[in-house]
Amino acid sequence: ALPRDLEGRRVVVSAGGTREALDPVRFLGNRSSGKQGYAIARLAAQRGAQVTLIAGNTIGLEAPAAVEVVHVTSAEQLKVAVDKHSLGADAVIMAAAVADFRPVNVAASKIKKGAGEPNSIELAKTPDILAGLVQSRRDGHLPGTAIVGFAAETGDEHADVLTHARAKLARKGCDLLVVNAVGEGKAFEVDTNDGWLLGADGTEIALDHGSKALLASRVLDALGPLLR
Ligand code: C5P
Repeated sequence: ALPRDLEGRRVVVSAGGTREALDPVRFLGNRSSGKQGYAIARLAAQRGAQVTLIAGNTIGLEAPAAVEVVHVTSAEQLKVAVDKHSLGADAVIMAAAVADFRPVNVAASKIKKGAGEPNSIELAKTPDILAGLVQSRRDGHLPGTAIVGFAAETGDEHADVLTHARAKLARKGCDLLVVNAVGEGKAFEVDTNDGWLLGADGTEIALDHGSKALLASRVLDALGPLLR
């Protein structure tokens, strides 16, 4: 039987990828399937939490049982939804693959093939939602909310991946960082995952290769001690 350790807790999970529109039919997106975030949301509900899942684009995943799902498209919409639902939450888990950049101009009608050279796309930075949550907590707006980030790192050497991930954890200021090494059979579009859990307190837990459900349970186990 699953533990009911999250009974009475309110947990917000973001999942999937954002889409940044270029015109009414085109967007910049990414390969996130949403599977890992959905697995966390499902398991958190099964362990007793009241869960809100902020879902970007996924591969058509079914809503987990007993989870409130809020659908969004762009990074800006994701930010608005995450900020709103995080107020008073016990934990926020940012598993979504948020676009780092968006096109500055969104054409009102479909961009036509021109006669000339291909055009370039001007980009602007999107807000870092995770870093914004940490700042809100520092400002006293999210007292006692545990904040978990994800990092998909490429790199051939484990040492490189971990060095980058440690720096990212420090930069973002969250309590826990779930680090996935991106590559063949890992992280994106597949049912399995592996990596590390890095804690702001210096802890480092290796996550053996396994199902996204298993990784979800390891993340929620690590979340327990962070709850106030
Ligand atoms: O910096 P990087 O994109 O690798 O960080 C990944 C983490 O930051 C994930 O938890 C992701 O959900 C979050 N993120 C965010 N807002 C962004 C970009 C990433 O919250 N604009």
